[in-house]
Amino acid sequence: MGSRVPTRFGARTNLGLLLLLLGAFLTGWLAFAYATAPARWSLVVHATSGIAILLLLPWKSMIARRGMSRNRPHRWASILLGLLVITSLLAGLAHSTGLLVYAGPFSAMEVHVGAALAAVPFVVWHVAVRRIRIRGTDVSRRNFLRGAVVISTAAVAYGAGELVVRATGLPGAARRFTGSYEAGSYAPGLMPVSSWMFDSIPQVEAKDWRLRIGDRALSYEELAAFDDRVVATLDCTGGFYSTQVWSGARLDRLVKDMRGASIRVVSHSGYDRRFPIDQAVSLLLATRFGDQPLDAGHGFPARLVAPGRRGFWWVKWVTAIEVDDLPYWWQSPFPTQ
Ligand code: HEM
Ligand code: HEM
Repeated sequence: MGSRVPTRFGARTNLGLLLLLLGAFLTGWLAFAYATAPARWSLVVHATSGIAILLLLPWKSMIARRGMSRNRPHRWASILLGLLVITSLLAGLAHSTGLLVYAGPFSAMEVHVGAALAAVPFVVWHVAVRRIRIRGTDVSRRNFLRGAVVISTAAVAYGAGELVVRATGLPGAARRFTGSYEAGSYAPGLMPVSSWMFDSIPQVEAKDWRLRIGDRALSYEELAAFDDRVVATLDCTGGFYSTQVWSGARLDRLVKDMRGASIRVVSHSGYDRRFPIDQAVSLLLATRFGDQPLDAGHGFPARLVAPGRRGFWWVKWVTAIEVDDLPYWWQSPFPTQ
């Protein structure tokens, strides 16, 4: 009997951690998928789950200490998992408070998401190898109440944290609803350069470049002659946002034959994104920002401007635009390259 109590306590804490890790992971990506109101709500749930993980760590450290004393193989992988989760948590808090937004070449947000992604295989391994058995008695009113106490404490801690950030005037107080910080708005030279994952910056020569639209090919001069303008905010998943005056050609004016279900915009690097055809009117293929030509880092010769969408939709170094019958959702929700 003496040993049963701590065992069940361990299984419940571990199950709680698993649910919270899943919750934080899913709501993090949900927030990245939207640049509109749902982003804020998913981030409230996200932050609450993250803080609830922190609250459970003292209990988990008791379980971990017991586990360590059992001297099982591959303990190092559990320790590495711990380091990755703690790195992700600290980087998330550093970003949200604004205490550390950039760490060397990386933003705190990149470290936050990078550590979380790196933790995924370790979580899968850990849960598969250090298996827990759930019993009927674990699904009790009492355990629901315990869970509710942890989650409400985390929610209150999150709300209090946000109040403290505002009251003390920490940089985090100036975050947008997506959690991003303003950078270089209306000053193209100060706008940060960032790309999705491992996309590297190509040096494209204007004279060699052509934009393929169906069976037509436009030169840089032909495209640069368009002067449709839009003021739009690029909100990067790396943790910053920047508003600029973009000029170029609206896709519905550029593409002659709009018969199809979706419009696909393809980069020199092979990277591509697909949009519902009726959104072509709000999409702009920009050659300039703030009346100056784009530079290589920001997508020269031409980049897509997709107002209201996160940065990874704003395809850079565009070389082709295609209209076809595939539905717009026929793509990975996040780019895979
Ligand atoms: C925040 C995430 C987690 C971290 C950092 C973590 C870390 C650790 C560490 C360092 C150990 C001790 C070393 C070892 O046995 O390999 C351990 C043991 C263990 N973990 Fe986790 N863990 C986490 C989440 C989970 C989850 C989600 C489950 C299951 C659903 C789980 C189940 C276990 C079990 C059953 C043990 C063995 C306990 C014992 O032998 O008494 N852990 N964990
Ligand atoms: C191990 C998984 C994760 C945990 C435990 C976690 C936890 C946290 C925590 C504690 C914060 C700070 C919240 C605050 O006080 O405002 C945070 C912020 C944030 N996280 Fe995560 N996170 C995880 C994974 C992710 C992933 C995979 C993404 C995106 C794909 C993500 C996106 C964000 C964003 C955008 C913020 C900024 C929120 C804001 O500033 O308001 N997180 N996260």
